[in-house]
Amino acid sequence: KGLRVSDKGFLNTAVIQSEITYIDGEAGILRYRGYPIEQLALKSNHLETAYLLIYGVLPSKEQYHNFRLEVTRHRVVHADAEGFFRSFRYDAHPMAILTSAFAYLGSYYSEANPSLQGQKLYTKGDAESLEMIDRQIYRLIGKATTLAAMAYRVRQGREFVIPPSHLSYTGSFLYMMDHMGEENYTPNPVLEKALDVLFLLHADHELNASCTTVLQTASSLVDPYSAIAAGCASLYGPLHGGANEAVIRMLISIGSPENVPAFIQAVKKREKTLSGFGHRVYKTSDPRSFIVRKTADEVFKVTGRDALLDTAMALHDAAMKDEYFVRRKLAPNVDFCGLIYRAMGFPLDFFPVLFAVPRVVGWLAHWRQMMIQEGGVKIWRPRQVYVGPSKRDYEPIDSRA
Ligand code: CMC
Repeated sequence: KGLRVSDKGFLNTAVIQSEITYIDGEAGILRYRGYPIEQLALKSNHLETAYLLIYGVLPSKEQYHNFRLEVTRHRVVHADAEGFFRSFRYDAHPMAILTSAFAYLGSYYSEANPSLQGQKLYTKGDAESLEMIDRQIYRLIGKATTLAAMAYRVRQGREFVIPPSHLSYTGSFLYMMDHMGEENYTPNPVLEKALDVLFLLHADHELNASCTTVLQTASSLVDPYSAIAAGCASLYGPLHGGANEAVIRMLISIGSPENVPAFIQAVKKREKTLSGFGHRVYKTSDPRSFIVRKTADEVFKVTGRDALLDTAMALHDAAMKDEYFVRRKLAPNVDFCGLIYRAMGFPLDFFPVLFAVPRVVGWLAHWRQMMIQEGGVKIWRPRQVYVGPSKRDYEPIDSRA
Protein backbone atom coordinates (compact mmCIF):
# COMPACT_ATOMS: atom_id res chain seq x y z
CA LYS A 1 0.00 0.00 0.00
CA GLY A 2 1.26 3.41 -0.88
CA LEU A 3 3.95 1.92 -3.17
CA ARG A 4 4.31 3.01 -6.78
CA VAL A 5 6.60 1.79 -9.55
CA SER A 6 9.02 4.65 -9.64
CA ASP A 7 11.92 3.75 -11.88
CA LYS A 8 11.60 0.81 -14.26
CA GLY A 9 15.11 -0.24 -15.27
CA PHE A 10 16.73 1.91 -12.53
CA LEU A 11 17.27 4.86 -14.86
CA ASN A 12 17.71 7.25 -12.01
CA THR A 13 17.95 5.25 -8.80
CA ALA A 14 21.16 5.16 -6.77
CA VAL A 15 21.19 2.10 -4.49
CA ILE A 16 24.59 2.55 -2.84
CA GLN A 17 27.25 5.10 -2.01
CA SER A 18 30.58 4.02 -3.48
CA GLU A 19 34.18 5.23 -3.42
CA ILE A 20 35.33 3.05 -6.31
CA THR A 21 34.50 4.35 -9.81
CA TYR A 22 33.34 7.76 -11.01
CA ILE A 23 31.56 8.27 -14.33
CA ASP A 24 30.36 11.56 -15.81
CA GLY A 25 28.27 10.35 -18.72
CA GLU A 26 27.65 13.79 -20.20
CA ALA A 27 31.33 14.76 -20.27
CA GLY A 28 32.64 11.26 -21.11
CA ILE A 29 34.77 10.92 -17.97
CA LEU A 30 35.75 7.66 -16.27
CA ARG A 31 37.97 7.52 -13.18
CA TYR A 32 38.98 4.64 -10.94
CA ARG A 33 39.39 5.87 -7.34
CA GLY A 34 39.94 9.37 -8.73
CA TYR A 35 42.54 8.44 -11.37
CA PRO A 36 41.56 9.17 -15.01
CA ILE A 37 41.23 6.00 -17.10
CA GLU A 38 43.51 7.53 -19.76
CA GLN A 39 46.40 7.86 -17.27
CA LEU A 40 45.92 4.37 -15.91
CA ALA A 41 45.76 2.83 -19.41
CA LEU A 42 48.99 4.59 -20.34
CA LYS A 43 51.01 4.17 -17.14
CA SER A 44 49.58 1.36 -15.01
CA ASN A 45 48.79 -2.30 -15.64
CA HIS A 46 45.83 -4.52 -14.90
CA LEU A 47 47.08 -5.98 -11.62
CA GLU A 48 48.23 -2.66 -10.20
CA THR A 49 44.87 -1.16 -11.19
CA ALA A 50 43.13 -4.13 -9.56
CA TYR A 51 44.90 -3.28 -6.30
CA LEU A 52 43.82 0.34 -6.69
CA LEU A 53 40.20 -0.59 -7.30
CA ILE A 54 40.05 -2.99 -4.37
CA TYR A 55 42.07 -1.12 -1.73
CA GLY A 56 41.58 2.48 -2.84
CA VAL A 57 45.25 3.47 -3.23
CA LEU A 58 48.06 2.79 -5.67
CA PRO A 59 50.26 0.14 -4.05
CA SER A 60 53.80 0.65 -2.80
CA LYS A 61 56.44 -1.59 -4.43
CA GLU A 62 56.13 -4.05 -1.56
CA GLN A 63 52.32 -4.05 -1.61
CA TYR A 64 52.33 -4.60 -5.37
CA HIS A 65 54.88 -7.42 -5.07
CA ASN A 66 52.86 -9.17 -2.38
CA PHE A 67 49.54 -8.72 -4.19
CA ARG A 68 51.01 -10.07 -7.42
CA LEU A 69 52.52 -13.01 -5.54
CA GLU A 70 49.19 -13.87 -3.88
CA VAL A 71 47.26 -13.68 -7.15
CA THR A 72 49.94 -15.69 -8.94
CA ARG A 73 50.08 -18.47 -6.39
CA HIS A 74 46.30 -18.79 -6.28
CA ARG A 75 45.96 -19.44 -10.01
CA VAL A 76 46.30 -23.21 -9.89
CA VAL A 77 42.99 -25.06 -10.16
CA HIS A 78 42.63 -28.47 -8.48
CA ALA A 79 43.22 -31.38 -10.88
CA ASP A 80 39.74 -32.75 -10.06
CA ALA A 81 38.24 -29.80 -11.92
CA GLU A 82 39.40 -31.31 -15.22
CA GLY A 83 36.50 -33.77 -15.06
CA PHE A 84 34.06 -30.90 -14.58
CA PHE A 85 35.37 -29.13 -17.68
CA ARG A 86 35.38 -32.32 -19.74
CA SER A 87 31.68 -32.85 -18.95
CA PHE A 88 30.69 -30.00 -21.31
CA ARG A 89 29.73 -30.61 -24.95
CA TYR A 90 32.42 -29.72 -27.49
CA ASP A 91 30.36 -26.73 -28.70
CA ALA A 92 29.31 -25.35 -25.30
CA HIS A 93 29.44 -21.55 -25.16
CA PRO A 94 32.52 -20.63 -23.07
CA MET A 95 30.45 -18.20 -20.98
CA ALA A 96 28.20 -21.10 -19.97
CA ILE A 97 31.33 -23.00 -18.94
CA LEU A 98 32.88 -20.06 -17.08
CA THR A 99 29.66 -19.14 -15.27
CA SER A 100 29.24 -22.71 -14.03
CA ALA A 101 32.96 -22.97 -13.22
CA PHE A 102 32.83 -20.11 -10.72
CA ALA A 103 29.91 -21.70 -8.86
CA TYR A 104 31.69 -25.08 -9.01
CA LEU A 105 34.88 -23.52 -7.65
CA GLY A 106 32.99 -22.26 -4.61
CA SER A 107 32.35 -25.85 -3.54
CA TYR A 108 36.08 -26.15 -2.77
CA TYR A 109 36.18 -23.28 -0.29
CA SER A 110 33.81 -23.78 2.61
CA GLU A 111 35.68 -21.11 4.60
CA ALA A 112 33.94 -18.49 2.45
CA ASN A 113 30.49 -20.01 2.83
CA PRO A 114 28.58 -18.58 5.81
CA SER A 115 25.89 -21.27 5.41
CA LEU A 116 28.51 -23.90 6.20
CA GLN A 117 30.39 -21.85 8.77
CA GLY A 118 27.23 -20.76 10.59
CA GLN A 119 28.56 -17.22 10.94
CA LYS A 120 28.98 -13.94 9.14
CA LEU A 121 31.86 -13.67 6.67
CA TYR A 122 33.21 -10.50 8.23
CA THR A 123 33.28 -9.15 11.74
CA LYS A 124 34.42 -5.58 12.24
CA GLY A 125 37.80 -5.39 13.94
CA ASP A 126 38.53 -9.07 13.34
CA ALA A 127 41.73 -9.23 11.28
CA GLU A 128 41.27 -12.92 10.47
CA SER A 129 37.92 -12.38 8.80
CA LEU A 130 39.39 -9.55 6.70
CA GLU A 131 42.26 -11.82 5.66
CA MET A 132 39.70 -14.45 4.72
CA ILE A 133 37.88 -11.92 2.50
CA ASP A 134 41.16 -10.93 0.85
CA ARG A 135 42.12 -14.57 0.31
CA GLN A 136 38.94 -15.12 -1.74
CA ILE A 137 39.84 -12.02 -3.74
CA TYR A 138 43.35 -13.29 -4.63
CA ARG A 139 41.91 -16.69 -5.41
CA LEU A 140 39.14 -15.45 -7.67
CA ILE A 141 41.35 -13.00 -9.59
CA GLY A 142 44.06 -15.64 -9.95
CA LYS A 143 41.81 -18.52 -10.94
CA ALA A 144 39.67 -16.45 -13.32
CA THR A 145 42.37 -16.68 -16.01
CA THR A 146 42.93 -20.39 -15.41
CA LEU A 147 39.22 -21.24 -15.59
CA ALA A 148 38.87 -19.16 -18.77
CA ALA A 149 41.88 -20.85 -20.38
CA MET A 150 40.45 -24.24 -19.42
CA ALA A 151 37.10 -23.29 -21.00
CA TYR A 152 39.04 -22.37 -24.14
CA ARG A 153 41.16 -25.52 -24.37
CA VAL A 154 38.50 -28.04 -23.44
CA ARG A 155 36.55 -27.19 -26.58
CA GLN A 156 39.59 -27.94 -28.66
CA GLY A 157 40.14 -31.26 -26.95
CA ARG A 158 43.53 -30.05 -25.72
CA GLU A 159 45.35 -30.82 -22.48
CA PHE A 160 45.20 -28.11 -19.81
CA VAL A 161 48.29 -26.02 -19.08
CA ILE A 162 49.57 -25.30 -15.58
CA PRO A 163 49.79 -21.52 -15.02
CA PRO A 164 53.39 -20.33 -15.48
CA SER A 165 54.77 -18.03 -12.79
CA HIS A 166 57.33 -16.09 -14.86
CA LEU A 167 54.84 -14.09 -16.97
CA SER A 168 52.50 -11.14 -16.39
CA TYR A 169 48.82 -11.68 -15.61
CA THR A 170 47.78 -11.44 -19.27
CA GLY A 171 51.02 -13.08 -20.45
CA SER A 172 50.33 -16.20 -18.42
CA PHE A 173 46.69 -16.18 -19.58
CA LEU A 174 47.84 -16.19 -23.22
CA TYR A 175 50.41 -18.86 -22.37
CA MET A 176 47.75 -21.12 -20.83
CA MET A 177 45.62 -20.80 -23.96
CA ASP A 178 48.22 -20.90 -26.71
CA HIS A 179 50.94 -23.17 -25.43
CA MET A 180 51.30 -26.29 -27.55
CA GLY A 181 54.34 -27.78 -25.85
CA GLU A 182 56.88 -25.57 -27.63
CA GLU A 183 60.10 -24.95 -25.73
CA ASN A 184 60.72 -21.34 -24.65
CA TYR A 185 57.23 -20.24 -25.72
CA THR A 186 56.39 -16.63 -24.83
CA PRO A 187 53.37 -14.65 -26.00
CA ASN A 188 53.89 -11.75 -28.40
CA PRO A 189 54.70 -8.74 -26.13
CA VAL A 190 52.57 -6.29 -28.15
CA LEU A 191 49.53 -8.56 -27.90
CA GLU A 192 50.23 -9.25 -24.22
CA LYS A 193 50.36 -5.50 -23.52
CA ALA A 194 47.25 -4.81 -25.63
CA LEU A 195 45.27 -7.45 -23.72
CA ASP A 196 46.50 -5.96 -20.45
CA VAL A 197 45.23 -2.50 -21.49
CA LEU A 198 41.86 -3.98 -22.50
CA PHE A 199 41.67 -5.84 -19.17
CA LEU A 200 42.36 -2.60 -17.31
CA LEU A 201 39.64 -0.80 -19.30
CA HIS A 202 37.16 -3.53 -18.43
CA ALA A 203 38.13 -3.86 -14.75
CA ASP A 204 35.22 -1.83 -13.40
CA HIS A 205 32.32 0.30 -14.52
CA GLU A 206 30.35 0.93 -11.33
CA LEU A 207 26.78 -0.33 -11.04
CA ASN A 208 26.16 -1.91 -14.45
CA ALA A 209 23.78 -4.87 -14.65
CA SER A 210 26.37 -7.50 -13.71
CA CYS A 211 27.89 -5.60 -10.77
CA THR A 212 24.42 -4.91 -9.45
CA THR A 213 23.67 -8.63 -9.80
CA VAL A 214 26.81 -9.54 -7.86
CA LEU A 215 25.88 -7.19 -5.03
CA GLN A 216 22.23 -8.21 -5.00
CA THR A 217 23.30 -11.85 -4.82
CA ALA A 218 26.01 -11.21 -2.22
CA SER A 219 23.57 -9.25 -0.06
CA SER A 220 22.08 -12.58 1.04
CA LEU A 221 25.59 -13.35 2.37
CA VAL A 222 26.07 -16.18 -0.10
CA ASP A 223 29.72 -17.07 -0.84
CA PRO A 224 31.55 -14.81 -3.34
CA TYR A 225 32.00 -17.62 -5.89
CA SER A 226 28.23 -17.91 -6.29
CA ALA A 227 27.93 -14.12 -6.47
CA ILE A 228 30.57 -13.96 -9.23
CA ALA A 229 28.78 -16.76 -11.11
CA ALA A 230 25.60 -14.66 -10.94
CA GLY A 231 27.55 -11.66 -12.25
CA CYS A 232 28.82 -13.74 -15.18
CA ALA A 233 25.27 -14.81 -16.02
CA SER A 234 24.16 -11.19 -16.17
CA LEU A 235 27.19 -10.15 -18.19
CA TYR A 236 26.55 -12.88 -20.78
CA GLY A 237 23.54 -11.03 -22.28
CA PRO A 238 23.90 -9.18 -25.63
CA LEU A 239 22.92 -5.82 -24.11
CA HIS A 240 25.90 -6.07 -21.74
CA GLY A 241 29.07 -8.20 -22.00
CA GLY A 242 27.73 -10.22 -24.91
CA ALA A 243 27.77 -7.05 -27.03
CA ASN A 244 31.42 -7.47 -28.09
CA GLU A 245 30.49 -10.82 -29.66
CA ALA A 246 27.28 -9.31 -31.13
CA VAL A 247 29.29 -6.47 -32.75
CA ILE A 248 31.34 -8.91 -34.83
CA ARG A 249 28.31 -11.02 -35.76
CA MET A 250 26.62 -7.77 -36.86
CA LEU A 251 29.64 -6.65 -38.94
CA ILE A 252 29.88 -10.07 -40.59
CA SER A 253 26.16 -9.95 -41.41
CA ILE A 254 26.50 -6.45 -42.94
CA GLY A 255 29.30 -7.82 -45.10
CA SER A 256 30.80 -4.66 -46.60
CA PRO A 257 30.64 -0.84 -46.36
CA GLU A 258 28.14 -0.47 -49.23
CA ASN A 259 25.55 -2.37 -47.18
CA VAL A 260 25.84 0.04 -44.25
CA PRO A 261 23.11 2.53 -45.32
CA ALA A 262 20.53 -0.28 -45.61
CA PHE A 263 21.56 -1.60 -42.19
CA ILE A 264 21.21 1.85 -40.63
CA GLN A 265 17.70 2.12 -42.10
CA ALA A 266 16.82 -1.27 -40.61
CA VAL A 267 18.08 -0.11 -37.20
CA LYS A 268 15.97 3.02 -37.40
CA LYS A 269 12.92 0.90 -38.26
CA ARG A 270 13.83 -1.18 -35.16
CA GLU A 271 14.32 -4.31 -37.24
CA LYS A 272 17.99 -4.55 -36.24
CA THR A 273 20.19 -3.57 -33.28
CA LEU A 274 23.32 -1.52 -33.69
CA SER A 275 25.51 -3.38 -31.21
CA GLY A 276 28.45 -1.44 -29.76
CA PHE A 277 26.47 1.80 -29.74
CA GLY A 278 24.59 3.45 -26.90
CA HIS A 279 25.03 3.37 -23.17
CA ARG A 280 22.86 3.91 -20.13
CA VAL A 281 25.29 6.40 -18.60
CA TYR A 282 27.36 7.86 -21.46
CA LYS A 283 25.57 10.42 -23.57
CA THR A 284 28.74 11.05 -25.56
CA SER A 285 31.54 8.73 -26.71
CA ASP A 286 32.66 6.25 -24.08
CA PRO A 287 36.18 7.43 -23.09
CA ARG A 288 37.35 3.83 -23.27
CA SER A 289 36.48 3.70 -26.99
CA PHE A 290 39.36 6.10 -27.83
CA ILE A 291 41.86 3.90 -25.98
CA VAL A 292 40.41 0.84 -27.72
CA ARG A 293 41.04 2.53 -31.08
CA LYS A 294 44.65 3.34 -30.21
CA THR A 295 45.21 -0.20 -28.94
CA ALA A 296 43.71 -1.58 -32.16
CA ASP A 297 46.30 0.33 -34.22
CA GLU A 298 49.11 -1.32 -32.21
CA VAL A 299 47.59 -4.78 -32.56
CA PHE A 300 46.90 -4.48 -36.29
CA LYS A 301 50.60 -3.65 -36.87
CA VAL A 302 51.32 -7.18 -35.62
CA THR A 303 48.31 -9.13 -36.83
CA GLY A 304 47.47 -7.28 -40.03
CA ARG A 305 44.38 -5.19 -40.60
CA ASP A 306 41.00 -6.86 -40.19
CA ALA A 307 38.82 -6.54 -43.29
CA LEU A 308 35.79 -5.91 -41.04
CA LEU A 309 37.40 -2.62 -40.03
CA ASP A 310 36.20 -0.88 -43.20
CA THR A 311 32.62 -1.87 -42.45
CA ALA A 312 33.04 -0.82 -38.82
CA MET A 313 34.39 2.61 -39.83
CA ALA A 314 31.60 3.13 -42.38
CA LEU A 315 29.03 2.18 -39.76
CA HIS A 316 30.58 4.49 -37.18
CA ASP A 317 30.69 7.46 -39.60
CA ALA A 318 27.13 6.88 -40.82
CA ALA A 319 25.69 6.57 -37.32
CA MET A 320 27.55 9.60 -35.94
CA LYS A 321 26.08 11.75 -38.73
CA ASP A 322 22.58 10.35 -38.63
CA GLU A 323 19.90 12.44 -36.94
CA TYR A 324 18.34 9.32 -35.25
CA PHE A 325 21.55 8.56 -33.33
CA VAL A 326 22.54 12.20 -32.75
CA ARG A 327 19.15 13.05 -31.22
CA ARG A 328 19.33 10.08 -28.86
CA LYS A 329 22.99 10.82 -28.01
CA LEU A 330 24.05 7.33 -29.11
CA ALA A 331 27.80 6.94 -29.56
CA PRO A 332 30.28 4.04 -29.69
CA ASN A 333 30.81 2.17 -26.45
CA VAL A 334 33.70 -0.12 -25.48
CA ASP A 335 32.46 -3.13 -27.42
CA PHE A 336 34.20 -2.48 -30.71
CA CYS A 337 37.18 -4.07 -28.94
CA GLY A 338 35.79 -7.27 -30.44
CA LEU A 339 37.77 -6.32 -33.56
CA ILE A 340 40.99 -6.57 -31.53
CA TYR A 341 40.05 -9.93 -30.03
CA ARG A 342 39.27 -11.20 -33.52
CA ALA A 343 42.59 -9.98 -34.87
CA MET A 344 44.34 -11.73 -31.97
CA GLY A 345 42.71 -14.98 -33.02
CA PHE A 346 40.22 -15.53 -30.20
CA PRO A 347 37.07 -17.38 -31.26
CA LEU A 348 34.00 -15.14 -31.47
CA ASP A 349 32.10 -16.75 -28.62
CA PHE A 350 35.12 -16.31 -26.33
CA PHE A 351 34.83 -12.49 -26.40
CA PRO A 352 32.42 -12.16 -23.44
CA VAL A 353 34.86 -14.28 -21.41
CA LEU A 354 37.51 -11.64 -22.16
CA PHE A 355 35.13 -9.13 -20.57
CA ALA A 356 34.25 -11.31 -17.58
CA VAL A 357 37.82 -12.20 -16.52
CA PRO A 358 38.97 -8.61 -15.89
CA ARG A 359 35.54 -7.56 -14.56
CA VAL A 360 35.97 -10.07 -11.71
CA VAL A 361 38.24 -7.37 -10.23
CA GLY A 362 35.51 -4.71 -10.18
CA TRP A 363 32.91 -7.13 -8.86
CA LEU A 364 35.23 -8.07 -6.00
CA ALA A 365 36.11 -4.45 -5.22
CA HIS A 366 32.38 -3.77 -4.83
CA TRP A 367 31.86 -7.01 -2.89
CA ARG A 368 34.63 -6.12 -0.42
CA GLN A 369 33.28 -2.58 -0.04
CA MET A 370 29.85 -4.06 0.74
CA MET A 371 31.08 -6.72 3.17
CA ILE A 372 33.10 -4.32 5.32
CA GLN A 373 30.73 -1.36 5.16
CA GLU A 374 29.81 0.46 8.34
CA GLY A 375 26.70 -1.07 9.90
CA GLY A 376 27.07 -4.43 8.09
CA VAL A 377 25.24 -5.84 5.07
CA LYS A 378 21.52 -5.35 4.56
CA ILE A 379 19.78 -7.77 2.21
CA TRP A 380 18.66 -6.15 -1.08
CA ARG A 381 14.98 -6.75 -1.29
CA PRO A 382 13.14 -4.31 -3.57
CA ARG A 383 9.38 -3.99 -3.48
CA GLN A 384 6.84 -4.38 -6.27
CA VAL A 385 3.38 -3.09 -7.00
CA TYR A 386 1.01 -6.05 -7.39
CA VAL A 387 -1.40 -5.63 -10.32
CA GLY A 388 -2.64 -9.26 -10.67
CA PRO A 389 -6.10 -10.68 -9.87
CA SER A 390 -7.69 -10.03 -6.50
CA LYS A 391 -8.64 -12.99 -4.27
CA ARG A 392 -10.40 -15.91 -6.03
CA ASP A 393 -11.24 -19.50 -5.03
CA TYR A 394 -9.53 -22.64 -6.27
CA GLU A 395 -11.58 -24.77 -8.74
CA PRO A 396 -10.92 -28.50 -9.12
CA ILE A 397 -9.58 -29.37 -12.61
CA ASP A 398 -12.79 -31.25 -13.69
CA SER A 399 -14.98 -28.24 -13.12
CA ARG A 400 -12.77 -25.71 -14.95
CA ALA A 401 -14.07 -24.38 -18.27
N1 CMC B 1 20.80 1.08 -31.72
C1 CMC B 1 19.66 1.72 -32.03
N2 CMC B 1 18.88 2.42 -31.16
C2 CMC B 1 19.33 2.45 -29.90
C3 CMC B 1 20.52 1.82 -29.50
C4 CMC B 1 21.26 1.10 -30.45
N3 CMC B 1 22.39 0.46 -30.14
N4 CMC B 1 20.71 2.02 -28.18
C5 CMC B 1 19.67 2.77 -27.76
N5 CMC B 1 18.85 3.03 -28.81
C6 CMC B 1 17.62 3.89 -28.79
C7 CMC B 1 16.49 3.14 -28.11
O1 CMC B 1 15.72 2.42 -29.05
C8 CMC B 1 15.73 4.31 -27.50
O2 CMC B 1 15.01 4.94 -28.52
P1 CMC B 1 13.49 5.49 -28.19
O3 CMC B 1 13.66 6.47 -27.06
O4 CMC B 1 13.03 6.09 -29.45
O5 CMC B 1 12.70 4.28 -27.79
C9 CMC B 1 16.82 5.29 -27.09
O6 CMC B 1 17.91 5.02 -27.99
C10 CMC B 1 17.29 5.12 -25.67
O7 CMC B 1 17.79 3.79 -25.52
P2 CMC B 1 17.42 2.82 -24.33
O8 CMC B 1 17.39 1.43 -24.82
O9 CMC B 1 16.21 3.33 -23.61
O10 CMC B 1 18.68 3.07 -23.41
P3 CMC B 1 19.13 2.15 -22.22
O11 CMC B 1 19.94 3.00 -21.34
O12 CMC B 1 17.95 1.46 -21.61
O13 CMC B 1 20.02 1.00 -22.90
C11 CMC B 1 21.88 -0.08 -23.91
C12 CMC B 1 21.40 1.07 -23.01
C13 CMC B 1 23.40 -0.18 -23.83
C14 CMC B 1 21.28 -1.40 -23.43
C15 CMC B 1 21.44 0.23 -25.37
O14 CMC B 1 22.04 1.43 -25.81
C16 CMC B 1 21.77 -0.90 -26.33
O15 CMC B 1 20.97 -1.82 -26.48
N6 CMC B 1 22.96 -0.85 -27.03
C17 CMC B 1 23.37 -1.94 -27.89
C18 CMC B 1 23.99 -3.07 -27.07
C19 CMC B 1 25.36 -2.70 -26.55
O16 CMC B 1 26.23 -2.26 -27.28
N7 CMC B 1 25.57 -2.96 -25.25
C20 CMC B 1 26.86 -2.72 -24.60
C21 CMC B 1 26.78 -1.60 -23.61
S1 CMC B 1 28.41 -0.99 -23.14
C22 CMC B 1 29.27 -2.24 -22.35
C23 CMC B 1 28.55 -2.86 -21.23
O17 CMC B 1 28.19 -2.18 -20.26
O18 CMC B 1 28.36 -4.06 -21.27
